[in-house]
Amino acid sequence: MNPLQTGTAPWIRIHEAPAHVGESIEIRGWVTHRRSSGKVQFLVLRDGSGLIQCVAGVKDLSPEQWEASGALTQESAVIARGTVKADARQVGGVELGLTSLEVVSLAPEYPITPKEHGVDFLMDHRHLWLRAPRQQAILRVRAQIIAAFREHMDSEGFTLVDAPIFTPSACEGTTTLFETQYFDDKAYLSQSGQLYMEAAAMALGRVYCFGPAFRAEKSKTRRHLIEFWMMEPEWAWATLEDVIALEERLLMATIGRVLDRCREELKVIERDVTKLERVRAPFPRMHYNDAVKLLHEKGMRFEWGSDFGAPDETELSSRHDSPLFVMNYPAAVKAFYMEPDPADPRLSLSCDCLAPEGYGEIIGGGQRMSSLDLLTRRIDEHGLPQPAFEWYKDLRRYGSVPHSGFGIGVERTLAWLAGLEHVRESAAFARMLYRLTP
Ligand code: 4AD
Ligand code: MG
Repeated sequence: MNPLQTGTAPWIRIHEAPAHVGESIEIRGWVTHRRSSGKVQFLVLRDGSGLIQCVAGVKDLSPEQWEASGALTQESAVIARGTVKADARQVGGVELGLTSLEVVSLAPEYPITPKEHGVDFLMDHRHLWLRAPRQQAILRVRAQIIAAFREHMDSEGFTLVDAPIFTPSACEGTTTLFETQYFDDKAYLSQSGQLYMEAAAMALGRVYCFGPAFRAEKSKTRRHLIEFWMMEPEWAWATLEDVIALEERLLMATIGRVLDRCREELKVIERDVTKLERVRAPFPRMHYNDAVKLLHEKGMRFEWGSDFGAPDETELSSRHDSPLFVMNYPAAVKAFYMEPDPADPRLSLSCDCLAPEGYGEIIGGGQRMSSLDLLTRRIDEHGLPQPAFEWYKDLRRYGSVPHSGFGIGVERTLAWLAGLEHVRESAAFARMLYRLTP
C-alpha cells in the first residue's frame, strides 16, 4: 500500500492504469491539456510515469468540481479519482472516467507553450522545461546509463569508493581549476577523482568513483560543461590493454541496457536506434601517429604533437559505426601521470575513446606512471607544487605496481546514446560558461 494513500480508491501511477481496468483508482498529477465540449470535460494528466486522458460529464462531478474543472490551466495540480476504462484509441489503451476531481493548485499562465521557443528561453526556464516529454525521457536514459556503469563495474568486482570534492591540488592541469576558500587555505573543486582512486586501488585492488567533476573550461562548445559527472575505474596490476578491454565491455553493457530499457524514451527523443544496434566489439583502434597521417590525407591542417580538436575527432571517428580507440598520445598533451610509451618516450600509454557520429571523446584513460623519479620530474615540468603531491608519491614508494584506469563522462555518453545535439540537454541543470541559473 502506498504510504501516502488517503482516499478509498488506491493511488496508482499512470503507467499502472492498464492493469486496473474496471477498478476505481486515484491519480495525482498535473494537467497538460484540457478541452471541453460544453457537457464533457477532457483532461490529459501527467504524473511523471505517463499520460492519461480523464473524461467527466457534467453529472459525474459535484457542481463545484465541475466548475473548477472548467477553469483548469496547464500545469495545475489535481487529484483525480474514477474508473479505468479500456479505450484502444488512448495512450496506454485506457482512459479514466472521473468521479471526483480535487484541484490542489491552480497554475497561472504557463510560460512554455507549444510554439517554438529559443534555446536561451528554454534554458532560462529549465526548471519548467524538465516537464517536457523529451526532457523527461533524456533524464530517464541518463539514469539508466548511470545504473549500467555501476552495475557493470560491480559485476567485475570493482568497489565503489567516493573521492573528495575539495582538493588541495590539480589533477588535470592548472588552467581549468576552480579555486575556493578553505578556511585559511585555498582549495580547488575536484577535476577528477583519479589520484584518490589510485590510492584506493592499492588498498582494494579494483575500485571506481562516481561523482561530479569541475573544470573552468573557457570553451563554449556542444561538448563542454563546467560541471559534469564522471565514473573513474582504477585497477591495480592492469595494463593499458586491460582497461581498453574493460572500456569495451562497459560500453557494450551500457548500450545493451539502454536499448533494453529505454525504447520508449529513445522514441520520444527520436533517436535512430539502428545506429546503436550497429555498435560491435571489438572496437577499431588507431595509433596517434596513424591518426595524424589520416588527418593529413584528408587535407586537414594538424601538427604532429598537438591534441585533437573537435573537428579532428569528428573526422577520425565518423568513419566507423563503433567507438574508436585512439592510442599513444604525445605525453606533452596529456596529464603529468601518464606512463611513457616504451616504444617512443615522446608518447604515452594513453587511450581516448571517441564516440561515433561525430560525438568525439567520451573516455580518457591510460596506464599510470610507475617511476617515482620520473613522476617527480613531471610534477615539476607541469608547474605543480611538489608538497601537494607527496601523498601521491607515497603510492610509488610503498608497493608501486603497474596500474591503469579511465574516466567516462556521463553527459557525453548520454549525448551520444540519445543523439543529442548539445550536452546542455544531458544534465538536469547544466552548468556552462555563461549559465549558472536556474
Ligand atoms: O579526459 P579527462 O580529462 O580524463 C580525466 O579526468 C582522467 N583523470 C580520467 C581517469 O583516467 N581517471 O576526462 C574524462 C572524460 C572525458 O572523456 C569526457 O567524457 C568527460 O570526462 N569530460 C567532460 N564532459 C563534459 N564537459 C567537460 N568539460 C568534460 N571534460 C571531460
Ligand atoms: Mg581527455
